[in-house]
Amino acid sequence: MEAARLEEAQEIGLVTIEVLDRDDIIHTLEIPPDIGLNVMEACKANELPILGTCGGMALCGSCHVYVLSDHHLSDKSDEEEEMLDKLYSTKDNSRLCCQIRVDERIHGLRIKLAPE
Ligand code: FES
Repeated sequence: MEAARLEEAQEIGLVTIEVLDRDDIIHTLEIPPDIGLNVMEACKANELPILGTCGGMALCGSCHVYVLSDHHLSDKSDEEEEMLDKLYSTKDNSRLCCQIRVDERIHGLRIKLAPE
C-alpha cells in the first residue's frame, strides 16, 4: 500500500486495510474506527465476498482470512481457535476476521480471503 495514501487516511481519522480477494485482486478499504465495526463487517460493507453467516460469533468460519502483514492483533479466543481447528484451510496466519475490531492498531493491515 502506498505510504502517502496510508498517511493521508490516518490524518483524516480513517483506518486503511488492504484485502486480497480470492483472485488476488487488491481492495483498499478506508473505515472510520469509531463506529464499532469488525473487519468482517467492513469487508461486507465494501461488497467483498465474505458471508459472515453467524453474524460475527466465531461460529461459522465463513470470514476466514490469512493475515499477511506483521500487525500484532488481539489474541484468539477459545471459540476462534476451535473454529479454526475445524477448517481444512487453516494456516499459522489464519484468523476469523469477525474477531478483529477496526481500530487504529490495525491501520495498514493486509489480509487475504481464505478459500470458501
Ligand atoms: S462471521 Fe462467522 S465466524 Fe466470523
